Amino acid sequence: MSILVTGGAGYIGSHTIVCLLEKGEDVVVIDNYDNSSPEALRRVMQLTGKEFKVYEGDVCDRDLVERIMRENNVESVIHFAGHKAVGESVEKPLKYYKNNLISTLSLLDAMLAAGVNRLIFSSSATVYYKEDTVPLTEDERLGCINPYGWTKFMNEQIIRDACQANPSLSCVLLRYFNPVGAHPSGMIGEDPSGIPNNLMPYICQTAVGLRDHLTVFGNDYKTHDGTGVRDYLHVCDLAEGHAKAVSFARGRTGCEAINLGTGTGYSVLDIVKAFEKANGVKINYVIGPRRPGDLDENYSDPSKAERLLGWKATRTIEDMCRDGWNWQSKNPRGYRA
Ligand code: NAD
Ligand code: UD1
Repeated sequence: MSILVTGGAGYIGSHTIVCLLEKGEDVVVIDNYDNSSPEALRRVMQLTGKEFKVYEGDVCDRDLVERIMRENNVESVIHFAGHKAVGESVEKPLKYYKNNLISTLSLLDAMLAAGVNRLIFSSSATVYYKEDTVPLTEDERLGCINPYGWTKFMNEQIIRDACQANPSLSCVLLRYFNPVGAHPSGMIGEDPSGIPNNLMPYICQTAVGLRDHLTVFGNDYKTHDGTGVRDYLHVCDLAEGHAKAVSFARGRTGCEAINLGTGTGYSVLDIVKAFEKANGVKINYVIGPRRPGDLDENYSDPSKAERLLGWKATRTIEDMCRDGWNWQSKNPRGYRA
């Protein structure tokens, strides 16, 4: 029996595969390398000393996905595949709706045809309504402000409806907060194409000299130092959350949305300072205008994950900064070296 990991060559997928293999699970991967490199999977094999089957293909290809499920005796699916750049989703909404929705629809269709009942879906804290109060619990009001966010919102609804209509399904909607850091080996990590949108990769690229300085997007937010506060989460903790979610899904049916975060918020300047302290490097930064769509603060109430999955983040902000920098300094140009 194996777990099908869609988008397994990506940032979170590659770390999750390491965690699953270490727990003795068998995995099979499908990725079209739209935003990743086969090198990531080669390194996962090197790191774990384990081999697994990889299909280069599109999750929107329903028949291929069904064939993979049948050929590999798949019993659960972790669905990471999707486009994830917020800004690009505003410019090219149809690209986002097409890939992110059709991939989930064809996956569910193939699962039902092949008799695969368990699905772990990569959702995001972006599904919460802008004015919800922090810490965010899973039953807060939902609502989005960009097409990327709506694809997560719509996918959640599609999966919920599929569970309602098919009582044998067991689905977990994992709402990630801000995944950062890398495997402590420095062999795998986040490899954004072009100029990073997210804070931690931007800081790492500034530290390694690829970027001249970080622009802090606004210092007039209602937070302790005026800069935006987020719930940063080590990608290895996030990976463990997926392994726990698979075990949880095996013991039940139905659909649950679960936050994965630490429950602690750090500001942009807190992160800059923590990064400098953990790694003994200096980050040049300037204060710039706010980025449209940004919130003052966004952090989770992670208690449902602890209650249902037995999962709690254990890695500190120092671990996130140290491991992120270890990956970046060993691989200044990511997997392209
Ligand atoms: P990523 O881009 O590194 O990984 C996604 C992978 O999916 C890539 O390898 C890409 O090539 C592949 N892919 C995309 N469309 C595909 C398709 N149609 N068929 C086959 N492969 C396809 O992204 P990530 O950071 O690892 O994120 C994984 C998931 O988690 C995404 O769904 C993302 O929206 C979600 N998420 C990410 C974050 C974050 O901050 N990284 C936060 C919340 C949610
Ligand atoms: C962003 C996305 C969100 C997505 C999440 C995880 C937007 C508006 N939101 O959220 O939908 O789910 O990433 O992928 O894009 N910052 C700077 N300078 C930078 C980069 C970021 O000051 O160069 C600040 C931001 O203003 C924010 C914090 O750092 O306060 C974190 O930003 P980021 O890493 O982009 O994550 P989110 O804003 O939480």
